[in-house]
Amino acid sequence: MKQYGYFDDDVREFVITDPATPWPWINYLGCEDFFSLVSNTAGGYCFCKDAKFRRILRYRYNGVPMDSGGRYYYIKDGDSVWNPGWKPCKTPLDRYECRHGMGYTRIIGEKDGLRCEVLFFVPKGGRCEVHRVRLTNTGAAVKRVQLWSFVEWCLWNASTDMENFQRNLSTGEVEVGDRILYHKTEYRERRDHYAFFGANRPFDGFDTDRESFLGPYNGFDTPQQVFAGTSGNSVAHGWSPVASHRFDLTLEAGKSEELIFVLGYVENPPEAKFSAPGIINKAPAEELLEAFGTPAKADAAFAALKGYWDGLLGRFQLESAVPELDRTVNIWNQYQCMVTFFMSRSASYFESGIGRGMGFRDSNQDLAGIVHLIPDRARQRILDIAATQFPDGGCYHQYQPLTKRGNHDIGGGFGDDPLWLIFGTVAYIKETGDFSILEEKVPFDNQPGTEKTLLEHLKISFARVADNLGPHGLPLIGRADWNDCLNLNCFSDNPDESFQTTENKTEGSRAESLMIAGLFVAEGKDFAELLSQPAVSADPAYVDEVREAVSRMETAVKQHGWDGEWFLRAYDYYGRKIGSSENAESKIFIESQGWCGMARIGADEGLCDKALDAASKYLECEYGLVLNAPAFSSYIKDYGEISSYPQGYKENGGIFCHNNPWVIIAEAMAGRADDAWRHYCKISPAFAKDQSLRKVEPYVFCQMVAGAEAAHPGEGKNSWLTGTAAWTWKTVSEFILGIKPQYDGLLVEPCIPQHIGSYRVRRRFREAEYDLTIRLTGKGGSFRIPYRPGFQALEIEL
Ligand code: BGC
Ligand code: NOJ
Repeated sequence: MKQYGYFDDDVREFVITDPATPWPWINYLGCEDFFSLVSNTAGGYCFCKDAKFRRILRYRYNGVPMDSGGRYYYIKDGDSVWNPGWKPCKTPLDRYECRHGMGYTRIIGEKDGLRCEVLFFVPKGGRCEVHRVRLTNTGAAVKRVQLWSFVEWCLWNASTDMENFQRNLSTGEVEVGDRILYHKTEYRERRDHYAFFGANRPFDGFDTDRESFLGPYNGFDTPQQVFAGTSGNSVAHGWSPVASHRFDLTLEAGKSEELIFVLGYVENPPEAKFSAPGIINKAPAEELLEAFGTPAKADAAFAALKGYWDGLLGRFQLESAVPELDRTVNIWNQYQCMVTFFMSRSASYFESGIGRGMGFRDSNQDLAGIVHLIPDRARQRILDIAATQFPDGGCYHQYQPLTKRGNHDIGGGFGDDPLWLIFGTVAYIKETGDFSILEEKVPFDNQPGTEKTLLEHLKISFARVADNLGPHGLPLIGRADWNDCLNLNCFSDNPDESFQTTENKTEGSRAESLMIAGLFVAEGKDFAELLSQPAVSADPAYVDEVREAVSRMETAVKQHGWDGEWFLRAYDYYGRKIGSSENAESKIFIESQGWCGMARIGADEGLCDKALDAASKYLECEYGLVLNAPAFSSYIKDYGEISSYPQGYKENGGIFCHNNPWVIIAEAMAGRADDAWRHYCKISPAFAKDQSLRKVEPYVFCQMVAGAEAAHPGEGKNSWLTGTAAWTWKTVSEFILGIKPQYDGLLVEPCIPQHIGSYRVRRRFREAEYDLTIRLTGKGGSFRIPYRPGFQALEIEL
């Protein structure tokens, strides 16, 4: 089986040894408001705050060849021209290695006795990428070599940058210093920000116009200046502004040269935009270059970044007998949760950064992965999300990170959305004990003067679902529920309209969702528990109302949502069953088994066990549990986008990893450790053997892995930005390892196969530090640890 790389757990890196990975294997840089995507061949782009509106580098999506555009270093050594990351020239290297670590990527290329090592990172406290480039002459003779840098600027709005050429090709503007090249398109008018690419020493030549650097009709692999050993010293006017420095270097045998490049973003106050008419105020760019522009300063910034990640990941560390599990828990799952929290579903190699902002339901779920790491950021996120809610509890489905204003670009009126605010808030308070967030005043739709407390928002969220029930007393689905593609009120026969935004046909609709029903019961119970905490002092009559609504829903599910062997999925517009043995296709769906199972609806009557058995029997395949089976074989107008996908992909029979954890948690709640563990291992990348088949990064969870009915079962897609990250974290930390944050402490309640034996978890919890050794003796049960600040080492037998 061909391998392209391996895990180096001691340094928390994944090491890629062959640049021609089946798909670009990327990493993310940045943990504040400047973010970069960087592939194993240095492809990708960066942006400040908002991938759509503040895009700094241009990227060619779905390009040919794949992964075109990035930060490229070119080396000319005699007649040979190469890049340390192999691309774009693809000159064969004597050695190549890419190490993706926590917030940094290091690429090493070596050829003909010359080694080029580039470390990319985004420092804490700096809106920039730092590139530390070290060239080493490993041979015995002196070498005269040339080095070019190269980036291509995006004209800020990543959407119009790709379409409005009648304007764009006239607007490009730059300025040139002796070390720094500036990109200032549109700065003359309403923008007060510019970008720059600087080096820590004066260059020997430069280019800022793409055509001059590449030559007309050339690609990134054949830049004419590089092959000629020159620079055009071009100043871009319109067309396509780029930035390239050239350095002519002499390297003694065995000696290294180190250059630091800083690719940054600057915002100036309106009154200090210019230093002279039409000339940008460059002082902040010079300061940023100065801040990181020596090897010692770059090293110090890099050490600080490493310290930050060590500190974060140190908050939850596992030692077990299963290295794949330790690797997932200690490194990559937590890391993916952070990235997903920052990006929501906006920018990846599957999400263009243009189409989607921060999702209401997505971002709430993402909180579950990071509340234990960055609780302050979680708090702010909850308040930002709540501020996009409508007074009637409805929600914008997403908001733009730059403005924090909601929009309907990807639809609205999803029946499940409001409940996720309860989910996110409960996760935050259980972790932090910070009940004060409930008292924060939050507006509706960001309108000043409409503020109510967050607790009121939660009540309105709950009521929104409780008061919108269909004929069976089950929640109305609205545009869709968690499954964006189950569009029961859409009825589109026009290929030119989007399933997500086409006007919903809700009048007379009887479409109801069992997924929302399960979510409502689970979150309703959580909400009632929250309201009953002494710190909340809620009106007991209201708490009773919540409990009664939950209990009515349980009854409705048992009466109208049970198909005999599993939970139904939905009732359609006309009140017909979906996900029933009576249906010709898609007789069973995963979401309702997961959510009704987690809500423990009918557990005493054996419904949960039966539903979980059915999930294993009908949905499980070698790579995980598929979403529905058998998948739809043709388009069904009454169901919408779900049936638009070929069988085995995405929401139509794909292994939608996001929802597997729901079943796994339900298995754990039912005490079925072996089933939970088996399902968990199947979707966890660390256990996947075949890197070629899986195709995408071996270190992160996918949103979707092709299911049993697909042409290539096991092929992964949509890596990185997925609710799978937070949900697998919740699953493994709280339900498999069993460390559950509670309002008053930790509850240790593992559900893990006996053969794994004992394990040790070191966990930060508020102001406490726990060192827990858990021995599985077979007796089972749980152990409560009341919260007390300070260090505590405990040996627990269960
Ligand atoms: C995808 C869903 C996604 C939705 C976003 C659909 O095409 O299949 O997974 O949630 O788009 O709007
Ligand atoms: C991806 C979306 O981001 C998420 O909100 C949705 O729940 C799933 N797809 C399922 O459709």
